[in-house]
Amino acid sequence: MKKIVVVGSSNVDTTLHVKDFPKPGETINASEVTMAAGGKGANQAVAAAKSGAETQFISRVGEDSTGEFMLKQLKNYGVSLEYIQTTAGQNTGHAYITLNDNGQNDIIIDHGANYSLSVLDIDAASNLLGEVDCVIAQFETPLEATIEAFKLAKRQGAVTILNPAPAIKNIPQELLQLTDVITPNETESAAITGIEINEENDLKLSAAKLHEMGVSNVVITYGDKGAYISTAVSEKLVPAFKVSAVDTTAAGDTFLGFLAGNLNKDLTNIEQAAVIASRASSIAVQRLGAQPSIPTAKEVKDLMEK
Ligand code: RIB
Ligand code: NA
Repeated sequence: MKKIVVVGSSNVDTTLHVKDFPKPGETINASEVTMAAGGKGANQAVAAAKSGAETQFISRVGEDSTGEFMLKQLKNYGVSLEYIQTTAGQNTGHAYITLNDNGQNDIIIDHGANYSLSVLDIDAASNLLGEVDCVIAQFETPLEATIEAFKLAKRQGAVTILNPAPAIKNIPQELLQLTDVITPNETESAAITGIEINEENDLKLSAAKLHEMGVSNVVITYGDKGAYISTAVSEKLVPAFKVSAVDTTAAGDTFLGFLAGNLNKDLTNIEQAAVIASRASSIAVQRLGAQPSIPTAKEVKDLMEK
């Protein structure tokens, strides 16, 4: 069984369903308000677990009922709780999501306990990081912790996957050099490379830039157009599966978890893994909420066989 460690955030998501996004200064009514477990780290851990990998999650929740809710959900989805700690005096991370009728969203995050994830938390998991196949991280928790995790992982020969989300500029060079696979969407890619992606050729240019910055494997997710994969030996746009989106929350996270869960350690099957990941994510966008929308490996397999 593949062993995956996710380092990252835990958020509880409150989703406000609206017809259109409010304009500045405007007050509108929500037609519905729903809650679900979310957070990029936690979603990716759930997706990795559902893809069939033995999944550990290094994260922090606050001392509150939403933190308890989070842990209960993760456990149900098969994620180990061993490396999740509670930060006293902090609330659990919370995301406030506005979801419009077209399935588009806006997200505002109250990071809460996520920012107390530390280098010490990673060091406490150094045995674990020494025996895994793959380590995944995002940008909703402190960079120093991610760098430490990737350092320990690389030392033991594990594959490191960086999902540079939400977008930040000036990613430390050190982190990029510790990254085996980077998986930005088009906005995140533009923030890192300075190259706006408006057409297919821009994907090529952006990937070239990311290689130049020190990452040998690039996967740029390009919404409903698919995922562009560029390695030392090949490049390819893996087309997305056309579906109509209800809620794209966690679509990228589902892609990540299934990509990691299906990737060989030598990365030679990255295109095939991306096809499976893209199928998984096409299921997630048709369902409401972050973690509740992530499919099982069986659902993805059934869809692949259709
Ligand atoms: O990637 C989706 C996630 O981003 C949501 O679940 C929300 O918690 C935010 O972190
Ligand atoms: Na979803």
